[in-house]
Amino acid sequence: MQEVLKYIAENRDTYIEELKDFLRIPSISTLEENKKDIHQCAEFVADKLKSAGLNRVEIFQTEGHPIVYGEWLGAPGKPTVLIYGHYDVQPVDPINLWDNPPFDPIIKDNKIYARGATDDKGQLYVHIKSVEALIKTFGSLPINVKFLIEGEEEIGSDHLEDFINSHLDLLKCDSVLVSDTSMYDEGVPTITYGLRGLAYMEVEITGPNKDLHSGSFGGAVANPINVLAGMIAKLHDKNNRVTIPGFYNDVQKLTKEERENFNKLRFSDKKISKSLNVAELNGEKGFTTLEKLWARPTLDCNGIWGGFIGKGAKTVIPSIATAKISMRLVPNQNPEKIAKQFTKYIKLLAPKSVKVKVSDLHGGWPYITPLNNPATVAAASALQKSFGKKTVFIREGGSIPIVTVFSRKLKAPTVLMGLGLNSENAHSPNEHFNLDHFSTGIKASAYFMEEYVK
Ligand code: BES
Ligand code: MN
Ligand code: MN
Repeated sequence: MQEVLKYIAENRDTYIEELKDFLRIPSISTLEENKKDIHQCAEFVADKLKSAGLNRVEIFQTEGHPIVYGEWLGAPGKPTVLIYGHYDVQPVDPINLWDNPPFDPIIKDNKIYARGATDDKGQLYVHIKSVEALIKTFGSLPINVKFLIEGEEEIGSDHLEDFINSHLDLLKCDSVLVSDTSMYDEGVPTITYGLRGLAYMEVEITGPNKDLHSGSFGGAVANPINVLAGMIAKLHDKNNRVTIPGFYNDVQKLTKEERENFNKLRFSDKKISKSLNVAELNGEKGFTTLEKLWARPTLDCNGIWGGFIGKGAKTVIPSIATAKISMRLVPNQNPEKIAKQFTKYIKLLAPKSVKVKVSDLHGGWPYITPLNNPATVAAASALQKSFGKKTVFIREGGSIPIVTVFSRKLKAPTVLMGLGLNSENAHSPNEHFNLDHFSTGIKASAYFMEEYVK
């Protein structure tokens, strides 16, 4: 192992330069205008998998964005790990809030700044480099490794499930390893054993058949923005519980043991509210902040628009108002069932004076990883060795819906070995990634392969 660690240390600067090249590609999955960049990014990943020494690398085209596959299967009889990650990134707006252009990476205070730095290019690149270091040092890997790297994670992984279903043999594995979550705190090795699911809806309210002069018609015709705002306000009660009938029916109660474990983690509401410049935190009554974030479902409006939003004033009653509303789900809530309950209730809340159109944009199941499987045990020990601290086990509030497909279809548990931090501005301006976590993560990934063999 010493030789690999030496190799990783010697190549640190090269790895960072390569990561910069990766981050320069504006692989925004949701924008049509970045389609070429998405393809270029898939090529970049495939090239790096090849130069890492994998003996089969292929780009699979889909009806959406390409999927990159790679494998090294030279350890017959040893376990096979499937490493999953995503090369696509979120849009950059509001662009004026970036201190530096989002696709022109720079390093400040040992952090690399660019869109995708922590989510997920930096975290994914860790594993490509650990495989390279092992192959370049020993000519082989201690276990079999497959890579599955997609370009549609940030838009709901629409084509990945079909790909998995039609390539079950190709993707056969004993476990899945993912670095696309957060560490509990800087330098604290972390395994995430639970993620929330998601139901993402869009609600369109139509009032009059055209925009109206608010003097001639205001007061007598329902204003779709007023109506929509009122409906959204009714989705929570005074204790901040979601009012959709049946919403909490399938929610698994926190066990006493889990509550105690959460409470043992040092956590300060004050530290968070201060860093976000809010007077206090908020949320469902009767739960601690970690419980609210990790084990309770939520409902949030993500965007709302309609009417006049330009500079200055215009007196108008708009014809249409729209909102994007998402719900984070916890075991055992079912995203389809929740979407139906939402649709029924929101229609019920609307007055006769407007029409309501509800669309189900995408959904995903919540996930809990089994903790006693050999891959989780190996990852916990590998993190401990590389970071030199005891690994903590946490749940998180974000979603990676495809991991439930891995467990259902590939019958493989997913180990979430996150190397990011919640403070690294994922999906937000000035996204960055801690370069110590990058280097130590490469070591952790190499240790994982060594540990998993046993
Ligand atoms: N890497 C995140 C998921 C994540 C974030 C997990 C924070 C744990 C903590 C991922 O790229 C992501 O953003 N997922 C989306 C889900 C999706 C269906 C668009 C999310 O959570 O909003
Ligand atoms: Mn991600
Ligand atoms: Mn993301």
